[in-house]
Amino acid sequence: MQENEVVEAFTELAPRYERVVDNELQKFWGWSYQGFIQFLIEHTPIYDGELLLDIATGTGVIPRAVMQTNPNCKIIGIDITQAMLSHGKQKMGNGFFGKKVFLNTGDAMHMPYSSFSFDLVLCGLATHHMQVDQLTSEIYRILKDGGRFSLGDVGGSKLWRKPIINFFIKILAYLYFLFTENKDRARAEASAVSNVYTAEDWKKILSDGGFTEIEITLLKSKKFWVPDPLLIQAIKIQEPKEKVNDDY
Ligand SMILES: C[S@@+](CC[C@H](N)C(=O)[O-])C[C@H]1O[C@@H](n2cnc3c(N)ncnc32)[C@H](O)[C@@H]1O
Repeated sequence: MQENEVVEAFTELAPRYERVVDNELQKFWGWSYQGFIQFLIEHTPIYDGELLLDIATGTGVIPRAVMQTNPNCKIIGIDITQAMLSHGKQKMGNGFFGKKVFLNTGDAMHMPYSSFSFDLVLCGLATHHMQVDQLTSEIYRILKDGGRFSLGDVGGSKLWRKPIINFFIKILAYLYFLFTENKDRARAEASAVSNVYTAEDWKKILSDGGFTEIEITLLKSKKFWVPDPLLIQAIKIQEPKEKVNDDY
């Protein structure tokens, strides 16, 4: 199961996660991990008093960064891997945890939140570990009307989406992470290759899913053969209000 693979891989990775991801992003994208998360947040409008959700929050790097610039909002981080959240809690210890920042264990495919709850949903470096159609439909459900979605992740090229190339990339990803990391990470990252979408794919997925004002910013990888990172902002279309019968 994909979820089990993910939990096993990130449980093992949790104590080293931020250092390892920083090395990987520097090597492949030429971005530091903190720099990429900061860039995502700087390109995401956030207003005082809002309720935010960070999907697949991991060790809570996004909530911590949000609190630096927007201490007057509340942010919940949800993640399927308990070990990632435990490390995040340890790192938070600056007075925000339990007051402004809350971390919940849960699966983003079936989130334990009521519909129309959040002003803004964020997601960093994680959509490729999930079924994106189901994820966007859950995000649509829990956002308030007019609520915003902001994501930063790896984007695929058209070539990557061709089945034979996709298969080949999966094998390469498996071997790369097997040698640099371990079997659990190799399985999780190889499975994730099928969930990497191009900017055009994202536009379609989001507009089919009821989002509007979809803005995609393509960034540049350091290595030409590595797919470029992308940032996406989108807004949930207001649901039409029930027509009031004013014939009488
Ligand atoms: C690469 S990490 C990203 C963590 C964090 N967003 C960041 O920017 O560093 C991917 C995270 O996605 C989480 N994840 C994967 N599938 C998930 C799911 N279905 N529901 C919730 N979290 C999930 C993993 O547990 C892991 O912590």
